[in-house]
Amino acid sequence: MKIAIIGGGPAGLYAAILLKKQRPQAEITVYERNRADDTFGFGVVFSDATLDNFEKYDPPSYRRITQEFAYWDDIAVHFRGTVHRVGGNGFCGCSRRMLLLILQERARELGVMLLFETDVDDESRFADADLVVLADGINSRFRDKYVDHFQPEVDLRSNKFAWMGSTRPLDAFTFIFQDTEWGPFIAHAYQYEAGRSTWIFETDAETFAKAGLEGLSERQSADRMAEIFGWFLDGHPLLTNRSMWRNFPMIRSRRWVKGNMVLLGDAKATAHFSIGSGTKLAMEDAIALSDAMAQASTVEGALQKYEHGRREEVEKTQHAADVSLVWFEHVDRFWDFDPVQFAFGVMTRAKAITYDNLTLRAPEFVREVDKAFATQVRSKGLAVDIDNPVAPMFQPLKLREMEVANRTVVSPMCMYSAMEGVPGDFHLVHYGARAIGGAGLIFTEMTCIGRDARITPGCAGLWNDEQQAAWTRIVEFVHGNSAAKICLQLGHAGRKGATRLMWEGMDRPLEQGGWDTVSASPIPYFPDSQVPREMDRAAMDRVKAEFVAAAERGNVCGFDMLELHCAHGYLLASFISPLTNTRTDEYGGALANRLRYPLEVFAAMRAAWPAHKPMSVRISATDWAEGGITGDDAVAIARAFGEAGIDLIDVSTGQTVRDAQPVYGRMFQTPFSEQVRNEARVATMCVGNITTPDQVNTILAAGRADLVALGRPHLVDPSFTLRAAAWYGADIACPPQYLPGKEQIFRNSVRDRQDFDDLKIKGKPKTRAELKAEATKPLAAE
Ligand SMILES: Cc1cc2nc3c(=O)[nH]c(=O)nc-3n(C[C@H](O)[C@H](O)[C@H](O)COP(=O)(O)OP(=O)(O)OC[C@H]3O[C@@H](n4cnc5c(N)ncnc54)[C@H](O)[C@@H]3O)c2cc1C
Ligand SMILES: Cc1cc2nc3c(=O)[nH]c(=O)nc-3n(C[C@H](O)[C@H](O)[C@H](O)COP(=O)(O)O)c2cc1C
Repeated sequence: MKIAIIGGGPAGLYAAILLKKQRPQAEITVYERNRADDTFGFGVVFSDATLDNFEKYDPPSYRRITQEFAYWDDIAVHFRGTVHRVGGNGFCGCSRRMLLLILQERARELGVMLLFETDVDDESRFADADLVVLADGINSRFRDKYVDHFQPEVDLRSNKFAWMGSTRPLDAFTFIFQDTEWGPFIAHAYQYEAGRSTWIFETDAETFAKAGLEGLSERQSADRMAEIFGWFLDGHPLLTNRSMWRNFPMIRSRRWVKGNMVLLGDAKATAHFSIGSGTKLAMEDAIALSDAMAQASTVEGALQKYEHGRREEVEKTQHAADVSLVWFEHVDRFWDFDPVQFAFGVMTRAKAITYDNLTLRAPEFVREVDKAFATQVRSKGLAVDIDNPVAPMFQPLKLREMEVANRTVVSPMCMYSAMEGVPGDFHLVHYGARAIGGAGLIFTEMTCIGRDARITPGCAGLWNDEQQAAWTRIVEFVHGNSAAKICLQLGHAGRKGATRLMWEGMDRPLEQGGWDTVSASPIPYFPDSQVPREMDRAAMDRVKAEFVAAAERGNVCGFDMLELHCAHGYLLASFISPLTNTRTDEYGGALANRLRYPLEVFAAMRAAWPAHKPMSVRISATDWAEGGITGDDAVAIARAFGEAGIDLIDVSTGQTVRDAQPVYGRMFQTPFSEQVRNEARVATMCVGNITTPDQVNTILAAGRADLVALGRPHLVDPSFTLRAAAWYGADIACPPQYLPGKEQIFRNSVRDRQDFDDLKIKGKPKTRAELKAEATKPLAAE
């Protein structure tokens, strides 16, 4: 077999090594345009898990790599004169040059032919090769040559970065967030060998321009960085090596294989440097390719296997990198945070590290986070314990005169079980159980303001006395038997009205017994849905009056809070999204016009709703669709409602149009809550695939939301909050009838948690840094 590999970076060399080991008879040649020891850049970093993989696949190169490595365990965050360190991270660094020399030596030893200073510009010279590996890096000539086939998507990110080096020793992966007269600069730095560290500097385009970095030579820009970070560099110089400022390209290729050619490493996909995974991905691609070659009987089959088997893992890493890079691009959102909360945000930005996980690794750090959180709560006038604070999810929150005892919320969920809008026994048990279960705040399902405002025939309403009495019974039960507060969500279905019960076909039109629907514009939801009537002024006045009347009834029922539903494609949302509002009057066009009617309704309700009670609005912070609402629009929407007197924005997303492309995942809507909260400076509630108390605490402690709502988890576990309280040892209200159960779970949880933590600690292998520290520790004197 003949294999040609274009590019002698980590991907190309490691692929050559593994393939040669697998097929000693194969003729494998690596073509590299640079000289053997001619390499840009400084250090690379690997996690312990990646090194485990290298150990498994090629022990000799693993041994040589690890002999050369610098190990560290801590991440240190420097911000506004403070430094927070967190251990247990298990990273290693080595110089890129050394890594390549080791891989070259190993490849040669196995009989791979390495041709340096050979720039390949045409793959036709490999016509007799069975396999051509395109490992030619981020600017891959061959990916670009076959752009129509590989279909790369190149997303050039907005921040500028430059890769430099220094002789400054570092004993931790170090992030420095530096304020300057021009704006924020960030340094990502780590040591990769004795006396050498990598320094990646990053800043936004505006700060870059203001700092006058445009057009400076490498040396001049290094000198500017040395001025900014001089206090930390401690007299050590900054070194350059092709250290030009660039914008990071996030690359994703739709196809990785063309005939017998295959893209590997940066050529096919990149991952932002802030998660230090570029070289890992490149070398793990090589592992995946060699595994596929071992398993399949033909090259074609192997390449298919490689692409199908590897894609998910690569996309997962890219997703984590995306989340991380967005955090760094928007660091200004957190710039006025308390430093410990800021550091917590840095640590937890990419979801893998959480509140519980940090509690095990760095209990003192988490204690400090808890204290800072409690101090913020105290500054709002709530008498909480700062010295021994409870976890963030059990801290109270005050909105106007309403105080919720904890931060967990039962998200609004239609039960589709009302009769003519009247909630019945099912609703009493449903809301009652969840209130007793400990959530600080319970939202009602979308409660419709009129018969024709319903989504389905099973939707609850609040337009007549019978409904008012039924809701009063529920509110009184909640208040009489729990500490929960209860919020009434009022809405109008708009073009999604007259549809079937959820379990009979969500959003599908009713076959019989329907009613006329209205919307901002006459656009049906499904092509075969009813065409809604475009609302005229008279209809708008009537609906507004119905909202006000329902709000007044809600107050009589005793609800503590009121939410206006402006999300999910229902009536008011249909005004806000340009995808559903094509009006040409003053209620259509620019966002300010599209917001006019929802704001009018809000103002009328606010005037009718008692001043001491809070109000929220639920929005879809993105339509997940081309031309629709984006996160930036959501900030503008939140600001507009903020000026109108809103107390909380309930940040949901989507459900506006049928052909939306939502990106689901754990906590998938939380980034929008974070953006709205920290850019529009309003309190937010986040929701969406949040399933554990650990996630709730992580979100709150990082300042990504003020309240956390859970929908589906509460459908199966009414006592989600009570259980979490027992786990974290935070006291919580419980009706006297259930006290024995509470006492038991609180008692058992102490032991269960201890066992669980012990198991986790015992189950976690020692990091290489820990092993090295143990091996070099001087023996204690007898
Ligand atoms: C600022 C920055 C910091 C980074 N930090 C880290 C880090 O800490 N940890 C980490 O793991 N990764 C890091 N990376 C990523 C890492 O550098 C790359 O992801 C990794 O090197 C990819 O390996 P590769 O083999 O795919 O590509 P490359 O390393 O780019 O190798 C491609 C090779 O192909 C050669 N070549 C290109 N075209 C041709 C041609 N036509 N003919 C012959 N040869 C050709 C090039 O000369 C090059 O040697 C960082 C990247 C940047 C930009
Ligand atoms: C059965 C069901 C009914 C829902 N009804 C409503 C509703 O009436 N009003 C509303 O704003 N959201 C409604 N939602 C959306 C939820 O409030 C929540 O935003 C969504 O389920 C995502 O949260 P989760 O992942 O925790 O379930 C409903 C969700 C479910 C599962």
